[in-house]
Amino acid sequence: MELSGKVAVVTGSGRGLGLAYARALGAAGASVVVNDVDEQAVADAVSAVQAAGGKAVGVTAAVGSTEAAEALIAAAVEHFGRLDVLVTNAGILRDKVLWKMSDDDFDDVVRVHLRGTFTCARAAAVRMREQGEGGRIVLVGSPAGQRGNFGQTNYAAAKAGIVAMARTWAMELARADITVNAVIPVAATEMTRTIPAFAPAIEEAERTGEPLPRWMRRGEGLGTVDDVTGLVTYLASDASAGVTGQAIGLGGDRLALWAHPKEKAHAFQDGGWSADDIAASWAAGVGAEPETFGIPAPRPPAGA
Ligand SMILES: NC(=O)c1ccc[n+]([C@@H]2O[C@H](COP(=O)([O-])OP(=O)(O)OC[C@H]3O[C@@H](n4cnc5c(N)ncnc54)[C@H](O)[C@@H]3O)[C@@H](O)[C@H]2O)c1
Repeated sequence: MELSGKVAVVTGSGRGLGLAYARALGAAGASVVVNDVDEQAVADAVSAVQAAGGKAVGVTAAVGSTEAAEALIAAAVEHFGRLDVLVTNAGILRDKVLWKMSDDDFDDVVRVHLRGTFTCARAAAVRMREQGEGGRIVLVGSPAGQRGNFGQTNYAAAKAGIVAMARTWAMELARADITVNAVIPVAATEMTRTIPAFAPAIEEAERTGEPLPRWMRRGEGLGTVDDVTGLVTYLASDASAGVTGQAIGLGGDRLALWAHPKEKAHAFQDGGWSADDIAASWAAGVGAEPETFGIPAPRPPAGA
């Protein structure tokens, strides 16, 4: 995939998935603004993108504020003359069950993920609309946002909100030829290695240099960070021109399209529905096949 001449900003690209996205975009010929909160990580990421064949500059800033967002877009314009692609990847976790989650736990996660996505996308949209040549905005959701997840009130809410923003902005930016999609990645990183069912296989793969086992790469859709880069590169490219408003999963060997929420069942009653009417009909009517909730627990095969 060819991205020569394109200029991309990737937030949170000092390590993990963001670094892999920045390297892949650089390797495809894009010029990349890398960003993270740690100066050394930013400097190392700039070198990594350059080593992959791309041009790169770094901006050390905590995504969330309008100032950080504007500094990122300004760096793209100042160093490379334009902006074509934004990938809003920066993220943190502050996992706790609801009754133990503090205001700070909630606000910190919402600030980086939800507010950071909003402020960066807004700054990017302003610039792309001024240029008048379209653009690509790639947001980052999570299975936790799609389904809900134990201990992740803040994160699930922020990630669900990000996908809702993708659908909203796909409508608002269509006329400007700016596509907006959400990637739903799964990869072995500092974030996922804390999941007990995955840890032994991830450690074994790292020790031996062998790929993760098939039950993880297919069943769980979990592989390396580099497995996710093809989707981000595709969504950054001219080849994805007709694709917008979508939530697209990639992890390991599994590429997936997530459904848009829709009414699954409905019923009509003249004059409307009282609480007693609903109670009388629920189990055999609209509620006959309730939806699942939560990410299903990993299912390693026996002996894995
Ligand atoms: N790893 C997975 O399986 C997975 C699954 C679903 C979603 N995601 C999402 O993918 C993204 C990357 O995840 P990862 O696993 O690579 O995590 P990671 O923790 O390895 O990397 C996240 C990076 O973001 C940086 N960051 C944190 N706060 C920042 C801020 N305010 N401004 C700029 N940078 C900041 C961190 O310093 C770090 O370098 C996150 O949005 C995460 O929620 C990951």
